[in-house]
Amino acid sequence: MLTGAAARVQEAVAALRRGEVIGLPTETVYGLAADASNADAVRKIFALKGRPADHPLIVHIADASALSRWASGSSVLAGKLAQAFWPGPLTMILPRRSDVSDVVTGGQTTVGLRCPAHPLALQVLRAFDGGLAAPSANRFGHISPTTAAHVREEFGAGVALILDGGECEVGIESTIIDLSSSIPRILRPGRITHEQIEAVIGPVAQDQSESSPRASGTLEAHYAPRTPMLLLPRAALELEAKQQRAFGKRVAVLAIDELPAGFDGVVLAGEAQAFAHGLYAALRRLDAGDEQLLLVERPPEGAAWLAVHDRLRRAAAGAGLDDDSP
Ligand code: TXA
Ligand code: MG
Repeated sequence: MLTGAAARVQEAVAALRRGEVIGLPTETVYGLAADASNADAVRKIFALKGRPADHPLIVHIADASALSRWASGSSVLAGKLAQAFWPGPLTMILPRRSDVSDVVTGGQTTVGLRCPAHPLALQVLRAFDGGLAAPSANRFGHISPTTAAHVREEFGAGVALILDGGECEVGIESTIIDLSSSIPRILRPGRITHEQIEAVIGPVAQDQSESSPRASGTLEAHYAPRTPMLLLPRAALELEAKQQRAFGKRVAVLAIDELPAGFDGVVLAGEAQAFAHGLYAALRRLDAGDEQLLLVERPPEGAAWLAVHDRLRRAAAGAGLDDDSP
């Protein structure tokens, strides 16, 4: 007899082999996974998410030995980074092998690869014995899911099987590093910082240009609630909350350590990893109410907070737009 978890993993692998899309927990956020070598299966992901076809997907693999199945040539830097950070929240962009489907790479000459550090994801990957294309399991532009219930909220019966792996530990998407050109470059900040990566491979550039359309997580408006949202330092937030209420607006607050007296909302800890862990669930909870405005307290500056600032800025930029706006 298989135990519950082993049986669910087996069911998930069978569904993936049939070309179906499943909800898959990772340590960052939940993914919407399909067999990366089955173009029809991967197309189902784009249809479910409402994602433009030219936005490439990350291929999830069981370990670094699978790098050569997807990336062409060998990269010393990729080997070092995999050794240091895999399984873990780091995605590497590498030149792709010519037999990798254009559907997965959005027609690019590169492919994104990551080995996730979640026991269920790893069990599925090992039993499946192939790559799984998996973007975050949210509709395009919306807040990424950090629980199985969030994935259900996003897709309802559209995704038949969602593996429940509990709350995602990291809570925000992986760091993305582009190793496909001469200077390694961080395209999306995450739990693994610029400094940590430089300690392993030497100088790394950070994308400041905002001009690269290649990573949808780098679009200015992303990870966004449907309720308009403002990001403010504490003192300004308290003033704004009172003023908006005086104008008759229903306001909800996402605050650090404690809520302003008399206001409802969610409190997160003033430490970057704990804040990131709770951020998306907090935004979803606040967005689910009937508030007309979300006021979010701006966290402290500093390298550890970079990824959180990135997500908050994009959430504020996209808030209040329609579902399918980028
Ligand atoms: O933590 C994560 O990375 C999660 C979990 C599920 O693994 N996945 C995730 O996938 O965030 P997604 O698709 O929501 O974001 C991946 C980002 C996208 O912005 C995509 O454009 C970029 O990675 N990307 C993927 N392949 C790329 C490539 N070849 N070149 C440039 N960007 C790429
Ligand atoms: Mg995403």
